[in-house]
Amino acid sequence: MKLSKLKKRLFVMAKNTVIICLVISFLITGCTSILSSDKKQREEFGENWMVIHTDKGEDTINKNIYGHFSEHLGRCIYDGIWIGEDSEIPNTRGIRNDVVEALRRIKIPVLRWPGGCFADEYHWKDGIGPREQRPGMINTHWGMVKETNAFGTHEFLDLCEQLECEAYVAGNVGSGTVEEMQDWVEYMTSDTDSEMANLRRMNGRDKPWRVKYFGVGNENWGCGGNMSPEYYADLYNRFQTYVRSYSGNRIVKIACGPGSENYPWMTTVMERSHRRMNAISLHHYVRGTGNWTKKGSATQFGESDWFALMKNTLTIYPLLEGNIEIMDQFDPRGRIGLFVDEWGTWWDTESGTNPSFLYQQNTLRDAVSAGIFLNAFNNYCDRVKMANIAQTVNVLQAMILTEGGKMIVTPTYHVFEMYTVHHDATMLPFELECSNYQFEDEEIPSIDVSASKDASGKIHLTLCNLNPTKSAELVCELQGTRPSSVTGRVLTADTLNAHNTFDKPEAVRPDAFDKFDFEDNILTATLPPKSVVLLGIE
Ligand code: AHR
Repeated sequence: MKLSKLKKRLFVMAKNTVIICLVISFLITGCTSILSSDKKQREEFGENWMVIHTDKGEDTINKNIYGHFSEHLGRCIYDGIWIGEDSEIPNTRGIRNDVVEALRRIKIPVLRWPGGCFADEYHWKDGIGPREQRPGMINTHWGMVKETNAFGTHEFLDLCEQLECEAYVAGNVGSGTVEEMQDWVEYMTSDTDSEMANLRRMNGRDKPWRVKYFGVGNENWGCGGNMSPEYYADLYNRFQTYVRSYSGNRIVKIACGPGSENYPWMTTVMERSHRRMNAISLHHYVRGTGNWTKKGSATQFGESDWFALMKNTLTIYPLLEGNIEIMDQFDPRGRIGLFVDEWGTWWDTESGTNPSFLYQQNTLRDAVSAGIFLNAFNNYCDRVKMANIAQTVNVLQAMILTEGGKMIVTPTYHVFEMYTVHHDATMLPFELECSNYQFEDEEIPSIDVSASKDASGKIHLTLCNLNPTKSAELVCELQGTRPSSVTGRVLTADTLNAHNTFDKPEAVRPDAFDKFDFEDNILTATLPPKSVVLLGIE
């Protein structure tokens, strides 16, 4: 809607309605609230309507919502991160410089490792000491390939130091022992004169590392041991007893939570173990019209598959609500964090690559899906304290793809970069009424949003237009703020499946955005079809 038209309607409204009340309200609150005064009137301002309560934010968007996950799987660790000190590719102590720089640009806050399914067959003592003496193993989950253990505890924690991010280590419950887990935590974090701390010193690291996050198992309902929730919860209680906080390192203990809608798992583990955990995980992968065996192509698809992914991505909202409701029963004060420590899109592996390596391309469709996921985590930030997209490099919905010495970033990477403005900002509550995106006989909301205010008082909106063929005119009332300047950025492309390749690394990248206008506390914007828009309001 044009601003002039809006102003005219405002004028008519003001004349016809209770003008004195409005004046009084203006004098008292210092801001007009004309547009939110009546839902019916709201409808007059177009189909896409939003009120943001810029003065009512309470909860902080934990920057760890923008976390990542790296597993010994395919070419994530080897090639993607670790190339060894003798590689011709520029590296620091064996770790790729280009990848570290790219991840630092998106302010990676936390990195989870070594799995995934790999975590429950990983024996950490094989990955320490002189590299040439480390025993190899077979990575039975991911292609039966040889795991050299060249990248182990020291290398991972060196990576976290280079990235300046927190470490999230996932321990082995499925095939490991309590003693092994206890020793690992002591090895990494203890400053005492103990056997494990001395072993670490012998291996060249005098001071302990800070390892804030420790996961007690991964997907123990599946690849992590096929356990019942009762059995896992009892094991969790036992294992976690020995996950100690040494030498001032206060460790956050994470229990294995459900995959998607496995509510009975969440209920039982919460019931039996809530007193002994600081967080519980949730995993949620999405795809289009495909199924688990035929997931669909990452790049070859039409609108039906676009629509299906958008619809499936929106399931994150009821899924968070469902799991949080259960958590609330056992932890009404909200002490326990929900960590969505694996999420993202999962497509058929790229043809010509090892099917067990889960290498997939990443298009604009994945980027819009990521925008929705991240908005949802922001909007539920009172409970969601961490999320880790799967996975960092060369696996599933990766930020980064590598080919020898070459590296490109994906459309999803750009969403993470645009959303850095939300890191540790205050989430702003809002009401949104929007048109539906209709495809064949189904429909879903066409717009998805989150909003925050940063420490300097700047407000940011991240808006996804899910509709790939129609732009969306959005009218937004900023309650409690009169902007003096607004800036914008947009991520979009001409085609649904636009993506970056080693030949065209910048086919999809953010651009400046100026299709907005503002006056008083009303902001209007035209969101292009299939886009992610960032607005900064001062
Ligand atoms: O991210 C790939 C795999 O997906 C992880 O190893 C596992 O936890 C999940 O099933």
